[in-house]
Amino acid sequence: MVNPTVHDSEHKARLRDYFDGEGFQRWQAIYGEGKLSAIRRTIREGHRQMLAQLASWMDDHHLPPGTHILDAGCGTGLLSVALAQQGYHVTAVDLAPHMVAAAHQRAEAAGVASAIDFVAADLEEIGGHYDAVICLDVLIHYAMPAFAHLCGHLAALSGGPFFFTHAPYNSMLAAMHWIGGHFPRSQRRTNIQMIKDGTVTEVLAPTGRQIQRTASINHGFYFVRLVESL
Ligand SMILES: C[S@@+](CC[C@H](N)C(=O)[O-])C[C@H]1O[C@@H](n2cnc3c(N)ncnc32)[C@H](O)[C@@H]1O
Repeated sequence: MVNPTVHDSEHKARLRDYFDGEGFQRWQAIYGEGKLSAIRRTIREGHRQMLAQLASWMDDHHLPPGTHILDAGCGTGLLSVALAQQGYHVTAVDLAPHMVAAAHQRAEAAGVASAIDFVAADLEEIGGHYDAVICLDVLIHYAMPAFAHLCGHLAALSGGPFFFTHAPYNSMLAAMHWIGGHFPRSQRRTNIQMIKDGTVTEVLAPTGRQIQRTASINHGFYFVRLVESL
């Protein structure tokens, strides 16, 4: 019998090692402005489209300046900095210390570091209460039941909207995922865990949340479902 807690902690340790090491350079490049391979360009562009969709949904909430937002799994800080530039107070958390350091650097370069609290930690260790929680392209790395633990934990931290992405399940995606595993190692993505839409609804139900809107962003090798829950 597999102990899910041990399994979860081993998985997280692997994710931390990846995003703090080999994956750090890879994702810093994707979230940057420099030249990229054709495959990674599609991921950069898809991610930009997803951020644009999120920004338009956030506008609908008319969150006042000073609103406290948790950027859960902040990576190199693209979202945290954009939020701070709009006058929000951000807590930026990531498992990988190199990611947090890169986010801090990006915020300093943009002159908004004082509006952001940077924390290197596992999201499941984060407590507190936020006006909104945003978790982008993090849950895509968790299969059930770890997906449910993390998603449920984050949902409970927000007194307002909880926005997140997950990788939707479909057979086309499963085939592309399989093909992706056969690319040269240097081009390979991290493993993406597909979660069925119905499972997301079930995971949110005990938290008292309902899905308000979803958007599918499919661009080359970037395919996620953005969810707004209230
Ligand atoms: C693909 S990146 C996405 C970064 C950022 N959210 C964005 O969209 O620009 C995934 C990030 O999630 C972080 N992550 C994964 N599991 C985490 C956990 N349990 N707690 C905190 N961060 C986590 C990784 O370290 C990595 O930086």
